[in-house]
Amino acid sequence: APTGTPTLAVIPGDGIGPEVTAEALKVLEVASPVKFESTRYDLGAERYLATGEVLPDSVLAEIREHDAILLGAVGGKPNDPDLPPGILERGLLLKLRFELDHYVNLRPSRLFPGTASPLAEPVLRKGEIDFVVVREGTEGPYTGNGGALRVGTPAEIATEVSVNTAYGVERVIRDAFARAEKRPRKKVTLVHKTNVLVNAGSLWWRLFEQVAAEHPDVTTDYIHIDAAMIFMVTDPARFDVVVTDNLFGDIITDLAAAITGGIGLAASGNVNPDRTAPSMFEPVHGSAPDIAGQQKADPTAAILSGALLLDHLGHPDAAAAIEAAVLADLTEREPGTSRRTSEVGDAIAARL
Ligand code: NAI
Ligand code: MG
Repeated sequence: APTGTPTLAVIPGDGIGPEVTAEALKVLEVASPVKFESTRYDLGAERYLATGEVLPDSVLAEIREHDAILLGAVGGKPNDPDLPPGILERGLLLKLRFELDHYVNLRPSRLFPGTASPLAEPVLRKGEIDFVVVREGTEGPYTGNGGALRVGTPAEIATEVSVNTAYGVERVIRDAFARAEKRPRKKVTLVHKTNVLVNAGSLWWRLFEQVAAEHPDVTTDYIHIDAAMIFMVTDPARFDVVVTDNLFGDIITDLAAAITGGIGLAASGNVNPDRTAPSMFEPVHGSAPDIAGQQKADPTAAILSGALLLDHLGHPDAAAAIEAAVLADLTEREPGTSRRTSEVGDAIAARL
């Protein structure tokens, strides 16, 4: 690539992944102030089933050389005996997160005006829903620190140990505060279960307090995970930046997506804030085998993930332009009608 040309590794993946990724690229093309040089990598269920390969080291090394990664979704049909659970999750998605040190899993949750939410009117009247979850991405119970003994017997033992390092916790909390500093409300809520998970909870709480002391202008709050699930549906306007561990974050962000218009709109970034490796941007949804290949998928989540990508690469104005185009498109969507995946992409691109 010519000097200065940003490079993009594109992993369209399986099912609706390639369909929504095509629209995200279409929108990036018109919105981005810079032209990307993109390289496509065929990874996912299809490749695994055909070749037995998940993420060859040579491919990982190539991907690492890019400025950013755009992922559609990976995953095959449910309960395919040829594709055991965990192969793609651990071998591809988590491997990329761990290897590229994506310690911030970023999930903005905003209820765009005009978008239907399952929440009741009185809840929606409490205030605007516009928060971002900063989920720790490299530790917690997702590291593979566990094992099984005597499997299949009545004496079976299974463990998944939650790993929390001071280094890992501090850096993600710092990122959350840095993001809060840039937002109008400047508030960070720690979500954990400090009353029961006392070891990890104590570490998170102490580092939270310590970093908070360096940010006197940022308001802080703490909620246990179970209570946070209540507030998410009774008063989501109270959240601005939420920082939490890997497992709690996984759960919170699905509920957050559900209250803000659903899986077709939820975007995410697997971010390496230190920029020692490329960050990866992807819709929250999966490969949706039930609607794959039919141009029925909503590409908006993938398109908004493209906006996060531009923002990360230093183009906040272009990112905001995509968000504005999506907002305008959502406002004019007619309930009960459906457009093809490519029509949604065309409509949003046309607004840019
Ligand atoms: P899913 O998100 O693929 O689908 C859940 C439901 O939402 C389905 O009814 C689907 O049709 C619908 N849906 C999803 N995205 C949509 C969109 N853009 N527009 C309209 N409707 C949409 O989750 P599911 O069914 O649990 O998983 C399917 C496969 O995807 C599995 O193999 C799973 O492992 C994989 N997966 C991959 C992820 C990733 O690549 N990061 C994340 C989640 C699941
Ligand atoms: Mg999830």
